[in-house]
Amino acid sequence: MPGLVRTLAVLGRPAAFLEAGRGRSLVLVHGAGGRSHVWSPQLLALADTARVVALDLPGHGATGGNGCTTIADYVLWVLAFLEAAGLERAVLGGHSMGGAVTLALALDHPDRVEALALVGTGARLRVLPRILELFRENPPEGVSFLAGLAYSPRTPGSAVVEAERALLETPPGVVLGDFLACDRFDVMARVAGVRAPTLVLVGRDDRLTPPKYAAFLARAIPGARLVEVEDAGHFPQLEQPEAVNSALRAFLGSLP
Ligand code: COA
Repeated sequence: MPGLVRTLAVLGRPAAFLEAGRGRSLVLVHGAGGRSHVWSPQLLALADTARVVALDLPGHGATGGNGCTTIADYVLWVLAFLEAAGLERAVLGGHSMGGAVTLALALDHPDRVEALALVGTGARLRVLPRILELFRENPPEGVSFLAGLAYSPRTPGSAVVEAERALLETPPGVVLGDFLACDRFDVMARVAGVRAPTLVLVGRDDRLTPPKYAAFLARAIPGARLVEVEDAGHFPQLEQPEAVNSALRAFLGSLP
């Protein structure tokens, strides 16, 4: 998506993001070992509804540099990104680890969050010890192991090229840091404090953040809406983009 690439200075370093459309700002945050391109289908499809911004967290994609090892540090960086982009408030969308980042941001900085779209994520994200072990000792096997768990059995390989590429191109140390950040994340006892209008989206075949996690979020967050996406695993935005785009479009349209 070369025409959509932008950069701005965040905490003194260049930060890369993709941007399309005009109107209400929807800022999308990728997950562990990801990058902005995992939101490619949303950038173009929702450009008629919103100003869609998909960022590359530090350590990831074209932002590069070091990653973080706690969700709290990613929250600080995203706050700095919003500041640098002149966004006092935005609709935040987060996938997996990005969902943890946006959830924590909504809890700790409610004034900055107009609404929240949580995709394939949870209020607690314990990570299989095997995943941590593989990214410490044998990263290529870690990538294969994750690929074996990440998608619905009905998803064609062509639908998840961006997810695979991002994971292969992110330095293994950064991916490990992301999974450690997830493993330490737990806001189950606090999540009822989210005040932003919230959409919770999950793939029915998600094995990394199962529908049970989404059901918990939707029950706990006041007024939250739950959408389960058929024939999708952990990357519903890539596996079933039309279903996800129409849920996001309806959600954006329902906001005051
Ligand atoms: N929302 C709702 N319930 C949750 C939850 C969440 N976000 N996270 C955990 N729970 C529940 C579990 O389902 C479990 O319930 P149960 O006792 O009724 O079965 C309980 O809380 C404790 O689970 P957990 O904290 O995950 O510890 P565990 O020792 O049982 O399992 C793992 C640890 C790693 C095996 C497990 O978390 C898992 O399979 N994770 C998914 C795979 C993964 O690595 N995903 C990557 C996420 S980035």
